Amino acid sequence: MLKYKIITYGCQMNVHQSEKIAGILNNLKFENTFSTENADIIVFNTCCIRDNAEQRAYGNIGALKPLKKQKKKKKRNLTVVVCGCMTQQDGAAEKLRAKFPFVNIILGTHNIDKIGDAITQYLQKKRPITLIEDTSRLCEETPELRSSGTNAWIDIMYGCNNFCTYCIVPYVRGREISRPKNVIISDIKKALEDGFKEITLLGQNVNSYKDSTDNSDFASLLRDIDKISGKFRVRFMTSHPKDYNSEITDIIKNSDKICNNIHLPVQSGSNSVLKAMNRRYTKEKYLQIIDEIRAKIPDCGITSDIMIGFPGETDQDFYDTVDLVKKADFTNAFTFVYSVRQGTPAAKMIQVDPIIKQKRITELVKIQNEISAKQSLKAVGNVYEVLCEGFSEKGENLFCGRTDNGKLVTFEGTRDDIGKFLKIKIDSAHASALFGTKTEEHTDEKR
Ligand code: 5AD
Ligand code: SF4
Repeated sequence: MLKYKIITYGCQMNVHQSEKIAGILNNLKFENTFSTENADIIVFNTCCIRDNAEQRAYGNIGALKPLKKQKKKKKRNLTVVVCGCMTQQDGAAEKLRAKFPFVNIILGTHNIDKIGDAITQYLQKKRPITLIEDTSRLCEETPELRSSGTNAWIDIMYGCNNFCTYCIVPYVRGREISRPKNVIISDIKKALEDGFKEITLLGQNVNSYKDSTDNSDFASLLRDIDKISGKFRVRFMTSHPKDYNSEITDIIKNSDKICNNIHLPVQSGSNSVLKAMNRRYTKEKYLQIIDEIRAKIPDCGITSDIMIGFPGETDQDFYDTVDLVKKADFTNAFTFVYSVRQGTPAAKMIQVDPIIKQKRITELVKIQNEISAKQSLKAVGNVYEVLCEGFSEKGENLFCGRTDNGKLVTFEGTRDDIGKFLKIKIDSAHASALFGTKTEEHTDEKR
């Protein structure tokens, strides 16, 4: 039986795409392995949204060369597949072929469903295959081998129409296409029947979801999901502040399934940088959204993405971002250093000195860590409902899970707790990590 290993880079959408790849390969009766040495097929599911993910993928593909040679000597074949959005960039397939002639199959983002056929064909004919089609092609009807514990990722839309000037996504993942609401609902029901306790809806900009069959919007989708019976949680990502509306806040407030947790990337707190990024909102508008969410849902966990060093960012622009971060009081924020993405408008703008970028990101991370730590301290003494997701890496007999508003909690438990909703009392907080004790158990059945 042939063994495969998938190496995934980038965001949750890619993690979910790897679940689809695993589903297809399992249907072909291939077996998953975590060992590179034992694998007969290695799939690199790449991401090119930021330079570091791309460089890591190039580095890891290059590092396979000796293994490929070694296996050839032993007359064992190693099939190397590169897919994901890196391959979809202009000239990327040619670059990959020239740099790594031992790569056997290159597939575009919207050709994942063909990975099984491509591998079968390659194993028979041993000829390199490159298949990169138009990003308007829908890649549906793929089996899935879900691997994210208690959580099931569900795509609600693909692509993005926003063209933020730093971002490669619209070029490599194409225009927005929403999946029909009835298909999403039936995918959710199937995941719940399979025992998943949490659903995370995925899309680059979920707030612009529009069902092409009946024009339903994101609010209508959330309302219909909320009507599904049973005890489960729903999260969604990512929201764009320009499309976020109070209707969504009201639905979250009135639902016990849709979590009090919103990921709302701000990117910058400087109005001139936001304009140059083509984000189409101002710092004031963003803070107004946050204020409104907090007024309606005081314990809402709000997280964000923040980018440092966008071309032309001055010290004043940076301090506007620091000011926003202090006012927004995010539970957590993913902080990124801007990296040039060829083919985007920002690539041609005047770049910020890398040393300045480094200094700014260090300062920002420190500030956000202090905010996250303060927020965690406030949780000490409270009791939260936590969905136990699995083992914690922090120690033996330790398990972890999240509160409704997205805080990660570690506690002593047993294997039986996985998939259960537990009441956990928070005893202590270290930086943003919370530690607690089980108090009482819900009678909800286990996965
Ligand atoms: N450089 C650095 N970060 C980027 N992101 C998107 N494009 C770039 C880039 N060129 C970040 C944004 C986005 C997150 C997913 O990745 O903050 O929200
Ligand atoms: Fe990229 Fe902007 Fe689309 Fe997000 S909304 S994927 S940052 S273009």
